Amino acid sequence: MTLNFPPTFMWGSATAAAQVEGAGHEEGKRDSVWDAFARVPGAVARGENLEVAVDHYHRYREDVAIMRDIGLDTYRFSTSWARVLPDDGDVNQQGIDFYSRLVDELLEAGILPWMTLYHWDLPQALEERGGWANRETAERFVRYAEVMYDALGDRVRHWTTFNEPFCSSLLGYAAGVHAPGRQEPDAAVAAIHHQHLAHGLAVNRLRELGAENLGITLNLSNSIPLDANDPVDVEAARRFDVLQNRVFLEPIVTGAYAADTIADLEQFGLRELIEPGDMQIIGTPIDFLGVNHYHDDQVSGHPAEGSDGHSGATDRSIRSPWVGSEHLAFPSRGLPRTAMGWEVNPSGLRMLLTRLGREYPNMPPLYVTENGSAYDDVVSEDGRVHDPERTAYIRDHVQAISDAIADGADVRGYFVWSLLDNFEWSWGYDKRFGIVRVDYNTLERTVKDSGRAYSELIAQVRSEV
Ligand code: NOJ
Repeated sequence: MTLNFPPTFMWGSATAAAQVEGAGHEEGKRDSVWDAFARVPGAVARGENLEVAVDHYHRYREDVAIMRDIGLDTYRFSTSWARVLPDDGDVNQQGIDFYSRLVDELLEAGILPWMTLYHWDLPQALEERGGWANRETAERFVRYAEVMYDALGDRVRHWTTFNEPFCSSLLGYAAGVHAPGRQEPDAAVAAIHHQHLAHGLAVNRLRELGAENLGITLNLSNSIPLDANDPVDVEAARRFDVLQNRVFLEPIVTGAYAADTIADLEQFGLRELIEPGDMQIIGTPIDFLGVNHYHDDQVSGHPAEGSDGHSGATDRSIRSPWVGSEHLAFPSRGLPRTAMGWEVNPSGLRMLLTRLGREYPNMPPLYVTENGSAYDDVVSEDGRVHDPERTAYIRDHVQAISDAIADGADVRGYFVWSLLDNFEWSWGYDKRFGIVRVDYNTLERTVKDSGRAYSELIAQVRSEV
């Protein structure tokens, strides 16, 4: 293994508020859309909810100590809008205090806080006023960003507006498999545009207030036609690429939706949503782009090729009728898969990182803000979790990043998803992504072999630079 990383490269791990905090209704926290969605019968596997999660709200000190022992440079976490501005009304000081304590604890441990404002948990009160389909929600988001900056701007230096808007727009408002569980294609397209707008408005406002490292995290994949010489496959891959990647990436980094994106989404009202000045706000320069990558997608335009091989769990969204999904298929490439059914293909990450800088001239520095794998872990008789597949997954993806850097990609950090086993959205708790196991009965934490291996890898890279 030849790893080459600049000395300033940041090694981290990530979580999100809704997935780990618990304290679902403690100390002033009110419902987010995910609390409400989890009460809908059948929405979340086994009827699980976010009430306790892995109790990070009460155990954050122990969790920060684990991060320190592993040797992390940075911890990526999100704040809960419904905790700090419950019902979008007065500021809940107890909620703010929690994040303030967490940030202090991190800084004392020498770990850089990497904060995300929106990881899918909109206050339910705002959903009741239309949610992301309502343009006003973008204005409300700016107020939330200001409140957080006022509380933490003296100590938090890295600010991410949104995490994976693909999920909180298309999966939430079109496919209905994420909160708020709506199946309204026009609302989903409105949610995309309004989240873009919220991002741009917040970047401008936070920069005015003095913030310096501002960015967004997108989930991106390579959309690969099954047969590059077959125009039907090429068109299917293009269409998929628009919805999975380009409608999110291009407005942010180029300040415009591409012509084919507008054409594809015209029937859902995209053009009418764009008001004068919007695109300039949305395209406000950012200081970094966070890239979440788990798998690629091989796409065919011949449904007879079969869809069973789709490499991601997002197929329920792209099969919904509004994107012409009856013409898409995802033939298997025969690669190994994780417990999510996602293909393991580190070379896809190398290709993606290398492509981004080449295809978009104004691309800011990249950080891999999520990458990781769920496996059906078992606790051995020695009390340990031996998870060689996850260890190999991390090692091979780190190698792919090193290779991408050698190819010329400007990648500056890597965050394993996830620090802890946690609430995997509508899949519930049994999809375990953590490098630290959580016993859901006792809430006890055990660093898995992959966590130890990651720690050794970080130490090795540091000793070589
Ligand atoms: C993306 C999301 O940001 C995170 O919340 C989720 O748990 C992981 N990917 C794994 O699916």
